[in-house]
Amino acid sequence: MDPIRTRSKNDLKPIYCSNPLEENKNLGVEIEKSILKVIRSGNYILGKNVEHLEEYFARYIGSPYCIAVANGTDALSLSLTAMGIGKKDEVITVSHTAIATIAGIEITGAKAVLVDINKTNFTIDTSKIEAAITSRTKAIVVVHLYGHAAQIKKIKFLCEKHNLKLIEDVSQAHGAKYEGKFLGSIGDVGCFSCYPTKNLGACGDAGLITTKTKNLSNKIKMLRQYGWVNRVSQIAGQNSRMDEIQAAILIIKLKKLKEHNFDRNKIANFYRNNLSKTPLELPIEESGCTHVYHQYVVKTKHRDKLKSFLEKSLIFPGIHYSLPVHKHPAYLNKILISGRLTNTELVSNQILSLPIYPGLEEKKCARVVNEIYKFFGM
Ligand SMILES: Cc1ncc(COP(=O)(O)O)c(C=O)c1O
Repeated sequence: MDPIRTRSKNDLKPIYCSNPLEENKNLGVEIEKSILKVIRSGNYILGKNVEHLEEYFARYIGSPYCIAVANGTDALSLSLTAMGIGKKDEVITVSHTAIATIAGIEITGAKAVLVDINKTNFTIDTSKIEAAITSRTKAIVVVHLYGHAAQIKKIKFLCEKHNLKLIEDVSQAHGAKYEGKFLGSIGDVGCFSCYPTKNLGACGDAGLITTKTKNLSNKIKMLRQYGWVNRVSQIAGQNSRMDEIQAAILIIKLKKLKEHNFDRNKIANFYRNNLSKTPLELPIEESGCTHVYHQYVVKTKHRDKLKSFLEKSLIFPGIHYSLPVHKHPAYLNKILISGRLTNTELVSNQILSLPIYPGLEEKKCARVVNEIYKFFGM
C-alpha cells in the first residue's frame, strides 16, 4: 500500500517549487557565524569578502575577471552600458524570460528586440536571429533558461559574423556547462543573479558579472560606484555595490554549488525515471550540455487543471513564465518584436515547474509523482 495515500491531508506539509530556507538549513551555523563576523568587522560594503568572492567566482567560472554588483538586473545593464550600448541601439533577446532580462536592457536606453524560442529547450531560436538584426543592433543577450545552455556556439558565430557583443544571462544556470566550458565564460560577459532561489543564491539581492576583458571589468567597477576613481567621478555611474554580508554568504554557497547542482540532478533523475510513462513532456538534456535544473519544467495541454489538482494536495508548482514579457502592460505594443512569437505564446500556456531544490527529500518527490499519476488516472 502506498504510505502517502493513507495519510490525511492535515498531516501533509506544503511542497513549494523552490525553498531557499530548506536549502540553507544545513549551512545555518556557518552562515550565521559569517554574518556575525561581518557585523563585528565594521566593514560592510565592498570589503574583503567581496574581493574574495570576485576572485573565487572568476576562478570557478574560468573567466579572468569578476565584478560583484547589487543584483542580476544591474549585472545586465552595467555590462551593456560599459560596452557603450544605450540610446538608439537595439539588443536582441527573447520574451520567454524573467522581466529582468528586458528591464536590464531597457534601463540603458537601448531597445530590446524580441525573437521567438525553440520548442525543445525554450531558449532563443537561432534560425530567427539574423532576420532581427538591423543597422542598430549592437548585442545579443542570450538567456540560458532553467539551468540548460542555449545554443551558444551558433549564437557566438552569429555575433562574430555581425560584429555584435554577446552577453550571457546566466541567472538560471550557475555551474552549467557547454562543451566543457562553464556558461558565463563563453560570451563577452556573463551576468548572474544571486537572488535567494537561484542555484547560487544569497540571503538577499546580489549579482555577479564575469568577463575576459580587463578594460570592461575596470569600467563596470567604476559604473557600480558613481563612476569613481579614487572617489572622483570620471564617468556618470550609479550605486550597485554588493554588501559584505551577501558576499560572505555567497562564498559559503559557492563551495556547495557543485553538491547542490548534483542534488538538483538527482531529483531530476527521479522525476525522469518516474514520469516517463505519463503524458507529460519532460525536459531534455542536449548533447554537450550539463543541466543544473534551476527548474524542472514539464509540458502539458492540461497545465492549469494539473496545477490546481496538485495545489489541492499542498503541492505548489510554479510557472516560468505564464505571461511572456511582451504581454505585460508595461511592454504591450511598446516593445520591438521580430517575426511571430508563436512558440513563446504556445509554451507559456503549457509549462509547469515541478518542485526542485537542494534538500527536497525523495519522499516529497514521490508525493509529487503520485499526485501526477492520480491526475492522469494511472
Ligand atoms: C533570466 C534572469 N535574468 C535576470 C534576472 C535578474 O535578477 P535580479 O532579480 O537579481 O535582478 C533573473 C532573476 O530572476 C533571471 O531569472
